[in-house]
Amino acid sequence: MANASLRQARKAKNDEFYTQLTDISAELYHYRQHFQGKSVFLNCDDPEESNFWRYFQLNFDDLGLTRLVSTHYHPTERTYKLVMERDEDGNITTTKTPLEGNGDFRSAECIELLDEADIITTNPPFSLFREYVALLMEHKKKFIIIGNQNAITYKEIFPLFMSNELWLGVNPRSGTRKGNNLLFAVPDTYDSKFIVEYNGVRCMQVSAKWFTNLDIDKRHQPLTLWKDYDPEEYPHYDNYDAIEVSKSDEIPVDYFGVMGVPITFLDKYCPEQFHIIGLDRYTVPKEFLVGGRVAVNGKPKYARVLIQRVDQPDGQGE
Ligand SMILES: C[S@@+](CC[C@H](N)C(=O)[O-])C[C@H]1O[C@@H](n2cnc3c(N)ncnc32)[C@H](O)[C@@H]1O
Repeated sequence: MANASLRQARKAKNDEFYTQLTDISAELYHYRQHFQGKSVFLNCDDPEESNFWRYFQLNFDDLGLTRLVSTHYHPTERTYKLVMERDEDGNITTTKTPLEGNGDFRSAECIELLDEADIITTNPPFSLFREYVALLMEHKKKFIIIGNQNAITYKEIFPLFMSNELWLGVNPRSGTRKGNNLLFAVPDTYDSKFIVEYNGVRCMQVSAKWFTNLDIDKRHQPLTLWKDYDPEEYPHYDNYDAIEVSKSDEIPVDYFGVMGVPITFLDKYCPEQFHIIGLDRYTVPKEFLVGGRVAVNGKPKYARVLIQRVDQPDGQGE
């Protein structure tokens, strides 16, 4: 029991990553067309701290928002919501109102605010990501949120990629990055070997991604395929009827069967070009997996997304 609560406490502490304004602005720039005349709800954001609040407050007019709501969360105390909206005279007002409870995104009052809003955006606690996305899906909300890259392969999340109910955002290479990682501000009490100083801010490096169900141009840009299929270069798996393509940029132009590609393919996925058949570990029967993976010559590969071209030579795939 003691161990379980310690784990819970550690998990909760690990949820305190603060998204930087530069990163919010670099991603949301690509969604401007979605916000005109819409209301936005930030359901995991202390408006006094959150750069999501700051971004939408600064761009309220520019984006043509009708309403911005943010609920503050406290683990044990009653909290408040902040609402920014235009009154009858056209003036923008901001009102702070107490909540009945602690601002938990799962509480009835926060779900009511969720239902009233058009677009939900935030960086929710990573430890509650599955539950968070399930709630958004259940309430049929449009969203643009941050999650850990690992979340892509969760058994509750990956099927949403397959059914095109969720996809990766733009994830620009600019912003507060170190390699492939985004940098999040963390409290002074937070200690980890992944902490770096960035512009005077103590930051944690996290391999995080933007997840969304709002349409973006990038999603409709097919990959340029140029390499010819060669069975030597693209070996067949031992345990599944597909070939191994170890770099998404080298998907052969003339192969129409199933191919296994790295997870990073999802950053380039265009549904008009490829179908997602599944993720190796959920698709290949368990008894055939090697170390939970597809394998070539007995050697397991890293996690692979199984894909197939939409256009087939006989036109059947279209
Ligand atoms: C990863 S942090 C991100 C904070 C802020 N959204 C940002 O991007 O800077 C997640 C936040 O969710 C809050 N939180 C944790 N559990 C929550 C819950 N059940 N409901 C609402 N918020 C929660 C935490 O206090 C934390 O501030």
